Amino acid sequence: MKKRVGIEALAVAVPRRYVDIEDLARARGVDPAKFTAGLGAKEMAVNDPGEDSVSLAATAAARLIQQQGVDTSKLGMLVVGTETGVDHSKPIASHVHGLLKLPRSMRTFDSQHACYGGTAGLMAAVEWIASGAGAGRSALVVCTDIARYGLKTAGEPTQGGGAVALLVSETPDLLAMDVGLNGVSTADVYDFWRPVGRREALVDGHYSITCYLDAMAGAYRGWRERAMEQGLVRWDSKLPSEQLARILYHVPFCKMARKAHAQVRLCDLEDSGSGPATPEARDEAAKSQASYDAQVAKSLGLNARVGNVYTASLYLALAGQLHAEAAALAGQRIGLLSYGSGSCAEFYSGVVGEKAAERMARADLDTVLAKRERVSVEEYERLMNLPYDAPEAIAPEPGTFRLAEIHEFRRKYAGA
Ligand code: HMG
Repeated sequence: MKKRVGIEALAVAVPRRYVDIEDLARARGVDPAKFTAGLGAKEMAVNDPGEDSVSLAATAAARLIQQQGVDTSKLGMLVVGTETGVDHSKPIASHVHGLLKLPRSMRTFDSQHACYGGTAGLMAAVEWIASGAGAGRSALVVCTDIARYGLKTAGEPTQGGGAVALLVSETPDLLAMDVGLNGVSTADVYDFWRPVGRREALVDGHYSITCYLDAMAGAYRGWRERAMEQGLVRWDSKLPSEQLARILYHVPFCKMARKAHAQVRLCDLEDSGSGPATPEARDEAAKSQASYDAQVAKSLGLNARVGNVYTASLYLALAGQLHAEAAALAGQRIGLLSYGSGSCAEFYSGVVGEKAAERMARADLDTVLAKRERVSVEEYERLMNLPYDAPEAIAPEPGTFRLAEIHEFRRKYAGA
C-alpha cells in the first residue's frame, strides 16, 4: 500500500504591526476602493528590521513545536523556503535549527525560487518521506518572507510579511497529498526579480499577472490529465475543477486568486468540447461569481489582513481555508496552486484530514492576528526607512524571536 504523506499541522507568525490599507490609500491620494475592491486588500503587515525572515521563521517553527507537542527527536529534515534570505551562504535553516536546538542528525537547507521556493521545499520533504528515505521521520518546512517593493510604488499596497511552518509526516492530519499527480510549468521570464544587493523587488506588474496565469494553465492541465487517469475527476456535467471542494492559489494580492480561478475554469471550458460556444461566452462562464464564492473566497481571510508573504502566501491561504471550515472539508479533496516568478507553477491536490479542525484549533490563528498593533502611515514609513542592519532594541514578545544585533557580519537573535 502507498504511504499516506502530507501536512500534519501548521503554525503562523506575522509581524507585530500592520497598516490599514484604506489609510495607505488616502495617504497616497488613491481612491481606497482601488486597494480594497480592486486588489482585495484590508490590512498590510509591516515589519521592522528586528523582524527579519529568520526571526519570523524561527517564531513560526517554535510555535508549531509548542502548540502541537512535536517530538523534535523524530525530525529528520528542515527546509526553509524563502526569497528574502539574509546571507548569500549561510541558510536561514541553520539559524532556525540553532535557535530551536533541533537534533544534529538532520538535513537542513534553504530552497529558493521566488514564491515557489516553499512549495519546492514541501515537495522535497513529501517525496523524501514517500520514498522511504525518511525512514519514518518527519520534516519541518518553513516558508518565510518579507515582501517589499518600496514607498509609493505600484506594488506598495501588495507588500506584507510573515512565515508559515508546516509539519510534514506520515500522519497527514491536515492534508494527505495525492503524491505523483502534480502538474508543473516552467518559463524563463523577467516578471518579478530582485538583483543581488537590492532590498526592494523589481516587477513588471501587469506582465507578471499574465505570466502567473500562463504558467498556471500549464500546471493545472498537467494535474488534470493525471487526476483523470486516476479517475479522481472526469468530464461530467460538473467541470473537472468543480469536482475539487476548494482551490487555493498563490495570493500576491487577493484579487489575483479571483483571476487565477477564472483561468482554471477557462482551461476546463476550452478543453471540454461542450459548453459555451463563443470565446466571450466562455470568458463570462469562467468568471462565475458563484463558483468563486463556493470554491475560493473563504481561503482569503488571512491573506487580506497580511498581504503578500511570497513563499508563504499559498500556505497562509491553506491556513485561512482550514481556519474557516476545516470540519466541513474533512475527507474532501482540494486543489492548490503555487506560483513563483521567473517562473515555475505547480498544481497539486490532497484530501483534508478528519483531525484538521482539532489541529487548526491548536494553531490559535485568531490570537496570532489579534495581538498585532495598527500603526499610522507615518510610522510605517519610518519603519521602512530604518537601516536593515540596526534593529531597534525591543524586547521580543514571549514565544517569539527578534534580531538583536549584527556584529562583524554575524547575526544574533534573542527570544523564545
Ligand atoms: P496598478 O497598475 O496600480 O493597478 O497595479 P491597476 O490599475 O491594474 O488596478 C488594479 C485593479 O484595481 C484593477 O482591477 C482595476 O480595475 C481596479 P482588475 O482590472 O485587475 O480586475 N481599480 C479599482 N477598483 C475599484 N475602485 C477603483 C479602482 N481603481 C482601479 N477606484 C499591480 C496593480 C498588481 C500590477 C501592482 O500592485 C503590482 O505591481 N503588484 C506587484 C506584482 C504582483 O503582485 N504580481 C502578481 C503576479 S506575479 C506573482 O504572483 C509573484 C510574486 O508573488 C513574486 C514571487 O513570485 O516571488 C509577486
